[in-house]
Amino acid sequence: MKDNYDLVVIGGGPGGYVAAIRAAQLGMSVACIEKRIYKGTPALGGTCLNVGCIPSKALLDSSHRYEATKHDLAEHGISTGDVAIDIETMIGRKEAIVKQLTGGIAGLFQGNGIDWLQGWGTLVDGKGSDKKVKFTAEDAAESTITAKNVILASGSIPIDIPVAKTDHDRIVDSTGALDFNEVPKRLGVIGAGVIGLELGSVWRRLGSEVVVYEALPSFLAAADKDIAKEAAKMFKKQGLDIRVDTKVIKAEIDGDEVVVTSENKGESSEQRFDKLIVCVGRRAYSEKLLGEDSGIQLTERGLIDVNDQCKTNLDGVYAIGDLVRGPMLAHKASEEGIMAVERIHGEKAQVNYDTIINVIYTHPEIAWVGMTEQEATEAGFEVKTGSFSLAANGRALAQSEGEGSIKVVADVKTDRLLGMHAIAAGAGDIVHQGMIAMEFVSSIEDLQLMTFAHPTISEAVHEAALSADGRPIHA
Ligand code: FAD
Ligand code: NAI
Repeated sequence: MKDNYDLVVIGGGPGGYVAAIRAAQLGMSVACIEKRIYKGTPALGGTCLNVGCIPSKALLDSSHRYEATKHDLAEHGISTGDVAIDIETMIGRKEAIVKQLTGGIAGLFQGNGIDWLQGWGTLVDGKGSDKKVKFTAEDAAESTITAKNVILASGSIPIDIPVAKTDHDRIVDSTGALDFNEVPKRLGVIGAGVIGLELGSVWRRLGSEVVVYEALPSFLAAADKDIAKEAAKMFKKQGLDIRVDTKVIKAEIDGDEVVVTSENKGESSEQRFDKLIVCVGRRAYSEKLLGEDSGIQLTERGLIDVNDQCKTNLDGVYAIGDLVRGPMLAHKASEEGIMAVERIHGEKAQVNYDTIINVIYTHPEIAWVGMTEQEATEAGFEVKTGSFSLAANGRALAQSEGEGSIKVVADVKTDRLLGMHAIAAGAGDIVHQGMIAMEFVSSIEDLQLMTFAHPTISEAVHEAALSADGRPIHA
């Protein structure tokens, strides 16, 4: 550890660690302060690598393989005998992947000459040209380091609700739901958002009876309405019992069970579960992040106030990722980290917030980029749309993935692509085509004129673009 750095980053998640690496590439001296201890070991990688994106996808993959092996092979003429899952092995595989990736970040830090300071970081004073950061090591030893620039990247934590306080055993948050040591027979989930759908799917595939309570009257309110409607039907068919317009008013532990009382249209009902996951959103995490005299301005909602380039009110102090406005997504955090560092370096870096992709990693995946039909209409565009069902896509049928569709949203006046929405196997990858097209201000005609390889699921993008002008070939 040195006394003075060009850049100190507080938080080593996908926002902070990526910022630190980019800064080192640009020749800055860099320290990254990260306090996380994951299962007894100090760990970089933040929420995403330790208890978020990566472990959830590892479990989604294992549970999908289990379900597909158990139920989907017979139609191919493949017989397997009894199919069983060993939860300890599944969780062990997840841990090995987490360890490999977080260890990989530590290796990248070493390779780039970045000092990882294991403990808490607090911006004590960000006003002058030499910013003061307090570093509190694990053994509580305190030291002050100065930095020309500081990036705040302390991320987010799950929102707790008073009616269902987590006890980290029966009532858990997303972190607890990644570590069940057996399949709960009856699983309750509060919140039909991204985590509820992904982790609800994991345990349903492994045999849980899953009930998902959603307070809002509509399902997947942020998604395009057509896609959300199709998704609701598919989840129902899969056996996820999603109850919209239903508020949980009480959750109590009774012996080995959790008793959930919920209310729908004024009527209350009670249901018993073995486990309950509370996933009703996350909130910015800024405990111990700012000293009393840091000089940092907050928004009315308590977030760190930043402009489009993630600059705070203080020169040389930036804030990125889940800690600031915008979607709480790893790729958004990382790109903000790169932008902040390149700005510090005097470059004109930007993040295009209009083309941040959302993916829900259920099966099939749900993904989108840009505006929904409803948002485009509200924004005053004269909108045209085109949709194509995967039931008419040869590749999708050949691989038993014929459920789902792809939809494009465009501006009638300019023909410009405004959004792409997909519910399909591999939707998360497919909508990258929409992102690239939007970045290059492509028109629907551009998508119509390109030659898509046959047979691919991407052909449905081509057909959706043709449908926008009423001339699909296979519909
Ligand atoms: P974080 O990853 O939260 O990292 C912040 C780090 O700062 C933490 O490690 C914390 O320990 C540390 N810290 C905080 N305060 C201090 C301090 N004062 N001093 C030192 N260190 C500090 N996003 C996706 O894009 N795709 C996904 O598939 C996806 N799946 C998810 C699944 C789950 C179950 C969850 C919970 C989240 C998921 N996310 C996903 C969201 C994603 O994890 C976050 O958007 C992302 O991690 C935010 O990155 P960040 O760097 O801003 O913060
Ligand atoms: P979310 O915001 O996606 O969903 C929360 C849901 O809970 C909403 O539908 C909301 O209406 C509902 N809700 C809120 N209070 C409620 C209550 N009292 N009773 C019933 N329902 C209630 O939040 P979630 O799922 O917790 O995820 C947090 C964040 O993590 C996401 O916003 C996302 O940014 C990130 N994430 C991203 C993933 C991805 O990119 N694939 C995967 C998992 C998380």
